Amino acid sequence: MAEEAEEEDEAEYHSRDFAWEDLRDEIESDASLSHHLLSSSLPSSSIGSSSTSSSIDADAWRSFHHRHSTGRFFKERRYLLKEFPELVSCCDSVKVLEVGCGNGSTVLPILRAGRNTVVYGCDCSEDVLERAKEIVSAAKGIHIKDRFHPFLLDFSIHSFPEWLVCSSCQCSLGGKCVDFSLDGHREKPSKSNAPFMGEDQCCIGGVDFVTLIFTLSAVPFDKMSLIIERCASTLKPGGLILFRDYGLYDMTMLRFSPDQRVGSREYMRSDGTLSYFFSLDVARDLFCAAGLVTLELEYCCIRSVNRRNGKTMRRVWVHGKFQKPMPNPS
Ligand SMILES: C[S@@+](CC[C@H](N)C(=O)[O-])C[C@H]1O[C@@H](n2cnc3c(N)ncnc32)[C@H](O)[C@@H]1O
Repeated sequence: MAEEAEEEDEAEYHSRDFAWEDLRDEIESDASLSHHLLSSSLPSSSIGSSSTSSSIDADAWRSFHHRHSTGRFFKERRYLLKEFPELVSCCDSVKVLEVGCGNGSTVLPILRAGRNTVVYGCDCSEDVLERAKEIVSAAKGIHIKDRFHPFLLDFSIHSFPEWLVCSSCQCSLGGKCVDFSLDGHREKPSKSNAPFMGEDQCCIGGVDFVTLIFTLSAVPFDKMSLIIERCASTLKPGGLILFRDYGLYDMTMLRFSPDQRVGSREYMRSDGTLSYFFSLDVARDLFCAAGLVTLELEYCCIRSVNRRNGKTMRRVWVHGKFQKPMPNPS
């Protein structure tokens, strides 16, 4: 993980250095890499089984954050605003939900991008949320008072809390009226879990943007549809999910050994955390199934040189923007 983060940081994110199709042809004709291509006999659902209070995938991440409690892996994603310029806002008040916020690598540039932007960041690890708070509070050049609201959530198991968007506002905003009571408890707004809300407010009324930045790849494939549906349910009509994650045939995928493969394009690191590698087709299908419209979807292919060993690395990320449609006028 640490090595991946370092390699990501060194790359030029906003360029397109090679054609993904050329890389695909090369990988798919290389017999030594055939173990990445064979259809898998292990269904991904076998690794994501969950209890009602915690998921196995979240447990692995909690341990990861507990072991790496120094914040050493914190790297602000400075390229983010180049990729998602809609996050730059000079005056309007903008609400963003950062899903799987970790130690705040994505939160920080978004807070810097607009002085009226408010970020709600969730993660399954209390340790990392504490660290995110410290890092954001200590950051130079941003006034964050009342603009960053971290909260604890295992989104593999629970829906987003009622204070983000309550069931009745969700229906009146033209969203799918999902009965969230069916999938466990859904946290009601209170002074302790949503101290920023006014006495007479039922919820914050949904968000303008949901960011899914290297988070979806960290959960079992069979949970992704439900998680995207939950994310979409927090969006205002016309709001966007901004997506960036590992792409099919990224160098880090090819480094996994055959025994680390736990599903098709799905791998488990030695510490139990998961990594999935998206094709454009899979990403499109997942987001469209949640009722979202694809605005942008492409591979981002970057050639960079590892400063430590001089080796050339071909990195592949998937970049996507998906919109929640406006309700039909009746
Ligand atoms: C690779 S990190 C990405 C962090 C951040 N989005 C960024 O841009 O750096 C994935 C994050 O998702 C969180 N995560 C994984 N599974 C989760 C779950 N089931 N519920 C909540 N958070 C989860 C992990 O704790 C981790 O912080």
